[in-house]
Amino acid sequence: MSYETIIVEQKGRVGQITLNRPQALNALNSQLMNELVTAAEAFDRSNETGAILITGSAKAFAAGADIKEMQSKTYMEAYLSDFFSTWDRLTALRTPLIAAVAGFALGGGCELAMMCDILLAADTAKFGQPEIKLGVMPGMGGSQRLTRAVGKAKAMEMCLTGRMMGAEEAERAGLVARIFPATELVEEALKIATTIASMSKPIAMMTKETVSRAFESSLREGIFFERRLFHSQFATNDQKEGMAAFVEKRPANFTHS
Ligand code: HXC
Repeated sequence: MSYETIIVEQKGRVGQITLNRPQALNALNSQLMNELVTAAEAFDRSNETGAILITGSAKAFAAGADIKEMQSKTYMEAYLSDFFSTWDRLTALRTPLIAAVAGFALGGGCELAMMCDILLAADTAKFGQPEIKLGVMPGMGGSQRLTRAVGKAKAMEMCLTGRMMGAEEAERAGLVARIFPATELVEEALKIATTIASMSKPIAMMTKETVSRAFESSLREGIFFERRLFHSQFATNDQKEGMAAFVEKRPANFTHS
């Protein structure tokens, strides 16, 4: 299988996937989403892979869902295609997933990192849910996973203002397991992934499943609710305006409609 938007490598028992759309700061378009999920599923099925590591570039893990691709979507297109539901396949994987984040992890990028089981950060990492500035809200699980990870106070503030949170604050808040100097991030993440991959795969799978269980009860309900609302935002004028303003590099003029 050949991929255009990701780099896929087997490193010992670790499957490493590097997001690779540098011209768009690894914005998550549908091609990247499909390639990433397909590659991760292949690693998940393989007995030669005991952990999956997802990383980006030094500047960006991922700057979000691809705004240019999304901008003109209608409510019906979003609803009928169950827009973003492909990501559910990633969270259904049973092999431990590790995210190694340097630079921007914004919007869908932050949500992708939070779909992973362990989140490791470079000291340069910046996390945020800036969707509100585009006239929408998180649509890949962010409103639920960020709140579970850092608590209501910080999640509400971040989702309503769109501000970014640095690596140290993210570690203090419980979003991030460990921080490393940017130049050492991938190497250190690979060491942690290799340790996990050296364990019994079925036991690691069950361990992941049981820890996730504690974290996820009723998450499904929250995500379902989020997705319905998210789709409906493509029926608003402010979504069209927010995304057009980004693409045209000008401030958004919301009409609250
Ligand atoms: C499409 C994107 C993009 C994105 C960056 N680019 N983010 N394209 N979708 N999410 C593109 C830019 O348009 C630009 O392309 C190139 O990548 C480099 O970005 P710059 O903005 O020039 O870089 P910089 O000045 O360093 O600023 C970095 C940045 C900024 C702060 C991360 O790019 C930014 O604010 N990006 C959007 C972040 C965001 O809003 N993410 C949430 C998306 S919505 P050109 O062609 O101009 O060189 C989302 C949630 C999903 O993810 C559910 C709700 C929608």
